Parts: sequence; structure tokens; C-alpha cells
Amino acid sequence: MDLESFVAGMPKTELHVHLEGTLERDLLMRLAAENGVDVPLPEGGFTDLTSFLAQYYPAMRALVTEDDFFELAWAYLLRAAEQSVVHAELFFDPQAHTGRGVPFPDVIGGYRRAIEKAQRELGVHADLILCFLRDLSAEHAMSTLMEALPYKAWIVGVGLDSDERGNPPAKFAAVFARAREEGFLLTMHCDIDQPGSIEHIRSALLDIAVDRIDHGTNIVEDPALVDLVRERGIGLTCCPISNGFVTDDMKAAEIVQLLRAGVKVTVSSDDPAYFGGYVTENLLALARAGDLSEADLVQLQRNALEVSWLAPFRRDRLL
Ligand code: ADE
Ligand code: ZN
Repeated sequence: MDLESFVAGMPKTELHVHLEGTLERDLLMRLAAENGVDVPLPEGGFTDLTSFLAQYYPAMRALVTEDDFFELAWAYLLRAAEQSVVHAELFFDPQAHTGRGVPFPDVIGGYRRAIEKAQRELGVHADLILCFLRDLSAEHAMSTLMEALPYKAWIVGVGLDSDERGNPPAKFAAVFARAREEGFLLTMHCDIDQPGSIEHIRSALLDIAVDRIDHGTNIVEDPALVDLVRERGIGLTCCPISNGFVTDDMKAAEIVQLLRAGVKVTVSSDDPAYFGGYVTENLLALARAGDLSEADLVQLQRNALEVSWLAPFRRDRLL
């Protein structure tokens, strides 16, 4: 069997995809027209995280009604089903919407409706992870957490995304401690080659005690931290195509090094509408750049299921 068919047919788990990053151009243009909002179309040409985020947030203004959030998540879940995704953990950025006056219940209500429909009609299982925007204040994150508490049953964990420069994990220590007390699992972005990446990884692991790290391949700079994540079985959700956009390097060598060292690295798509690849394309890109075997690809997918936040009875059935 050729590599494309093998990867296409593999049952997959996607742990790092931002729902707002799945907003494809056609849907963006249609929703902007229906809502009568003037939205700058993403032009691409990103050279780093900041230049990507500068196009990413304005495009979200196309999303206004509960139905819009439903449509966005439903379009992603249809694509996930086509790509043999059996389980997906979906980041969403409520502050990017509530800050424009969209009510929190409309955001989460639309997303949840799509997830329930996908479970019924597509056999795709999905959960939501609420991400705080790290360039906003810790107080804003805490009030968002409070707003989310009535919807706890729909949210499996919390994360941290957006601009990492000058916004270290410690800024959100109290928010993450409270989220933990409320029963949420914890992850956070430690983006590629950001100023202070390795200190952010260390702090996320030692001070915040995260359950996973998103990206995090700079961990190769500190062998003691590599040992720590291997011993604790902490997953790193890597996104090769996204890495290639924000740093000019897919970081295939680092991902393969971590895989060979027995770290639970996984492959996901991050913001596929912007970076041009869903999970299948990310696995293929890494397989080619890192010269991976079919057994390696299976290991990456086993890792994803093992470090997923599925309830054990569901996870063990899929493993
Ligand atoms: N928001 C969406 N994608 C992101 C990324 N790769 N890093 C930080 N914030 C993001
Ligand atoms: Zn991300």
C-alpha cells in the first residue's frame, strides 16, 4: 500500500486543532456577507506567530450567531470524518468572540450542537478545550473561566494560546490552579522558537503541572526535561505544517528525535484553514521529511490516543 493510502485510512486522533483556525475562505466570505460585516480576507504570507495572529483574529469577526459557530464546527467535523478521525479535541477561543459582544452561550452552544450531531451522524467523537488568550490579562481569563463553569460538562480541559512573547505560563498560575480544582485537565501552548520557549516549557511542567504541552519541541534543548515528560507520559501535540509557517522549519528532526526517545509526541493540524493541511497532510509531511515508517506513523497515533483526554472506557476501546 502506498504511503498516502496508508495515512488516509488510518484511524486518527487529533489533539491540537483550533476551531477558529478551521474557518475556510468560502465559509468566511459567506458568513461575513450574511452578517453584513466587513472582514479582511487572510492573505497568507505569515513569517511568524505574530504575523499569523494579525490575520487570524480579524477574520473571526465573520462569526456572529450561534448558527455560525455550529456551521464552523460542523464543517470541520465533516472534514475530520473524511480523514478517518475518530476522536478530536477542539480548542476554542471564547474571549476572541465575547470581546466583540458575542455571548459565551452562543459560542459554546453552536460548537456543542455540531459535536453532538457529529457523534450521532458521523461516528466522530469530539470534546472542547477552552483556551485563554495569553495576551489578555489573567483577570480576564479568570472571569472567562467563571463564565464557563455552568458548561463544565461540555469542556474537557483548558489551554493557553495567542501571543507568547512576554506572556509566560506563570502569569496564569492562579487561573490554571482554579481550573484544576474545578476538574479540568490542563494544557498550554509553548510555541516553537519563541523568546523564552524552554523556560516556558519548564514552568508549564514544574509550576503549572500541565497534563500536556501544545507544540513544545524546544524541549530538546534540555535533556532533563525530555526525561521528565517521558517519565510522566506527558504528550506534546506537534503540528509540522504550522511549524513550517511560523518558523520556516517543520521541526521534523526534533519531532523524530522525541519519538525515538519514547516521548509521547503526536501530530495535529493547528490552524488548517490558514496553514493548508489537516491531520492527514500533517502526518504525510512529517513522514516524508522525517523518513518515517508505517510503524512510526502507527506509534504517533497510538501516542495521540494514549495522551488524549477520552474517558478510559472509550480510549481503551479505540487503542
Ligand atoms: N492560536 C491559534 N493557533 C495558535 C498557535 N499556533 N499559537 C498560538 N496561538 C494560536
Ligand atoms: Zn495551536
